[in-house]
Amino acid sequence: MSEQLALHGGPKAKQTPYTLTNRYGEEEVVELRRALESGKLMGPGGVVEEFEAELAQAFEVKHVVTVTSGTAALHTALCALGVAEGDEVITTPMTDIGTVAAILALHAVPVFADIDLETRLIDPEAVRGKIGPRTRCVITVHMSGMPCDMDTFMALGAETGVKILEDCAQAHGGTYKGRKLGSIGDAAGFSMNESKQMTTGDGGFVATGDDDTARIASLFRDKTYIRDGSVGRSGQPIPFFALNYRANGLHAAVGRAQLAKLPALVARRREIAARYYNELGDLKDLQLPRIVDGGDPSWWPLAARYTGKAPSRDDLVEALHAEGLSISTGMSPANNILRTDMVRTKRYYPLTAEVPTFWRDIDYDPDSCPSVDELQRTVIRLPLDERYVDEDIDATIAGMHKVWAHMTG
Ligand SMILES: Cc1ncc(COP(=O)(O)O)c(C=O)c1O
Repeated sequence: MSEQLALHGGPKAKQTPYTLTNRYGEEEVVELRRALESGKLMGPGGVVEEFEAELAQAFEVKHVVTVTSGTAALHTALCALGVAEGDEVITTPMTDIGTVAAILALHAVPVFADIDLETRLIDPEAVRGKIGPRTRCVITVHMSGMPCDMDTFMALGAETGVKILEDCAQAHGGTYKGRKLGSIGDAAGFSMNESKQMTTGDGGFVATGDDDTARIASLFRDKTYIRDGSVGRSGQPIPFFALNYRANGLHAAVGRAQLAKLPALVARRREIAARYYNELGDLKDLQLPRIVDGGDPSWWPLAARYTGKAPSRDDLVEALHAEGLSISTGMSPANNILRTDMVRTKRYYPLTAEVPTFWRDIDYDPDSCPSVDELQRTVIRLPLDERYVDEDIDATIAGMHKVWAHMTG
């Protein structure tokens, strides 16, 4: 048996903090200077347009429309795909609340489908069972950088006429059957907040291959203003309601530098994930996610599950923390969106409990997505970040083996 558990006074498996260097460096400074020197920060146009062209090339899509967050990207994309009041949009409660906020912002109705516990991702069969006459769109969330089963979703879309929107907020650089995530659905929404593979501090973008979707998205993020010179200072037609979600040249400058780093970052994340699959695969009752056929994730902290009964997941995690390992037990800030106050009570406004008419007719059963709850109960997220050096991963793997050797029979 290895040394005593740190929990019981033994030496820690991981003695030093994880390596987390600054994600921003000289490359970002150079681009920021260039943007400032251009004298034009407000988009669209200028550096913002250059960044959009680079994103389109990197993500293998015809059009990219930058915005200020992932939530804004999904809101903009849903609007551009034609989602309107009372339409139903199916997604999973295992996502960030921003996915759901984007639906509600259009006065559309979120409908929740369970995940497949093995892949941790929205289950195409569960989605099929939820499609009805008012369904307009399905949001496939590539959680933790893992690709959804896109062939099945696209076939479902073709069969039913329902649009497929990829939530790529956590999936930059992942691929499915050789195609970049975000280039497969009718449109995609990406986040660039600071927890993502590439970041502009905060930010996001819509990707689409469809000219009309791109045109509407581009109007929606800019109050519908036409800025190509064809309309003067007065006389803007304002054809429909829209918001100001414009990204600016500072976002774009940082984004250009970050985009250049993305391929190496994804390669390093894949290397770390491969080590976990190779070196932790034999731990009793530890299950690593099944990757769908043809999927190549870009990875986030890896959502392993502990399926044993004794010790409990939480006892194991306490011991892993004592060993100095960075292990988390959350998939998202809200464990299961069906169980949030907002969805339970359909609370739309902060100061009145009145439910707006578009949301009145649906009832949510908080127990209707049991696999989401089961994942939350059992998940052990393994630390995964491109900045970690080999010693960080060596010590993490050693710590896992040590705790398992002591605590599991
Ligand atoms: C899956 C998912 N969707 C949507 C969002 C919303 O992105 P943002 O925080 O940039 O609004 C996030 C970000 O946390 C996310 O992880």
